[in-house]
Amino acid sequence: MTFTPAPALSGTVGVPGDKSISHRSLMLSALAVGESRVEGLLEGEDVLATATAMRAMGATIERDEAGIWHIHGVGVGGLLQPETALDMGNSGTSTRLLMGLIASHAITATFTGDASLSKRPMARVTQPLSLMGASFTASPGDRLPLTMRGTCPAVPLDYRLPVASAQVKSAILLAGLNTPGITRIVEPIPTRDHSERMLRGFGADLNVDIEPDGTRIITLTGEAELHPQQIVVPGDPSSAAFPIVAALITPGSHVTVTNVGLNPTRAGLFDVLLSMGADLSFSNRREVGGEPVADITARYGPLTGIDVPPDVAPSMIDEFPILFVAAAFAKGRTRTSGLDELRVKESDRLTLMATGLARIGARVIETEDGLVIEGTDGAPLPGADSPPLITASLDHRIAMSFAVAGLATRGGLTVDDMRPVATSFPGFVAMLRSLGALP
Ligand code: S3P
Repeated sequence: MTFTPAPALSGTVGVPGDKSISHRSLMLSALAVGESRVEGLLEGEDVLATATAMRAMGATIERDEAGIWHIHGVGVGGLLQPETALDMGNSGTSTRLLMGLIASHAITATFTGDASLSKRPMARVTQPLSLMGASFTASPGDRLPLTMRGTCPAVPLDYRLPVASAQVKSAILLAGLNTPGITRIVEPIPTRDHSERMLRGFGADLNVDIEPDGTRIITLTGEAELHPQQIVVPGDPSSAAFPIVAALITPGSHVTVTNVGLNPTRAGLFDVLLSMGADLSFSNRREVGGEPVADITARYGPLTGIDVPPDVAPSMIDEFPILFVAAAFAKGRTRTSGLDELRVKESDRLTLMATGLARIGARVIETEDGLVIEGTDGAPLPGADSPPLITASLDHRIAMSFAVAGLATRGGLTVDDMRPVATSFPGFVAMLRSLGALP
């Protein structure tokens, strides 16, 4: 699909439900006895993969005509043996969190995924879950396809996270739900805390202590009983990032995105954009589903390059591709570092962003753990006469980031494959069109 220079974007849009919260709402509802209802669930391929897997393990999950999802759970410890392999598609979150759930059940399950997911490392979860008693037969490099055998009762774990990963933390917590005793996780660098919030909301006995240096100690009492909930999923800040940056770099734009989740463990991009001088305003601040939410208005205006402190990375880990796009239009240099994790996302996001941005005329240097970008000070990037092809490599966020970048080029660009966008933001192209960005 080709993205060409856009006139000013204007309008008010909503974004789909938060992907992380949507996965967790299906998983925890599937473990509560009785009916939970979820409103605003992200109906993207990743979350639907979680729904299919939870059904395969005994939960009843239905969507009504009003778009409300009704989930009848099996109770903690009640998951059933799936009859066929669990196809996780592109979804790392489904895979790693479900491995946690299965680890403390006497279930054997095989996980498969697409070419992108099959390249991603799974040792970060198989290692701690093995300590709890689960066993794994993985493809070389601890990758999918992988077969695991859970165990019941599992052994409670006391674990210091070696990598800042909410997926690893959540896998262990979910395993801990059906494990006797106390599961304890030491989290030196805070990552998104949706699992902790939602587990408490479902009635689990979970505590978080914060030490003076910011380390979080999370304790969960196992053999929990979860009570069905009514959940409203806030809009995904990771999806809101795209129309917001589109407005910041396209002259004359003025865009409002409503109902954006602003959990402090997720909102790092907006702080970084503000320190680059972005014209962002936040209104209608409120709470939705136990998470802080606001409407965000973005107006086109000058951005200035900054050194992005590496410690904000976990709070915007999925937003670096679109931040790199914003940086390419800023005045001066933006330096990022400490981003090794970006190399093991749906793609190697450092290399793909560096290559793609260079192809449309940005000045980028790729380092071992970040990018250094010299911005254009608001001028459009050249693009090319015959639009250069950008490779998205089955990575939805790469595809959307370059779609946005294309709006502020002179020559436009073509993204080779926009289909991966359906994993997290099925209405992305329609949203751009409604803002006037596409013919
Ligand atoms: C997620 C955690 C992050 C993030 C992913 C969703 C989650 O992954 O990149 O998109 O829902 O827990 P890591 O845990 O690998 O950082």
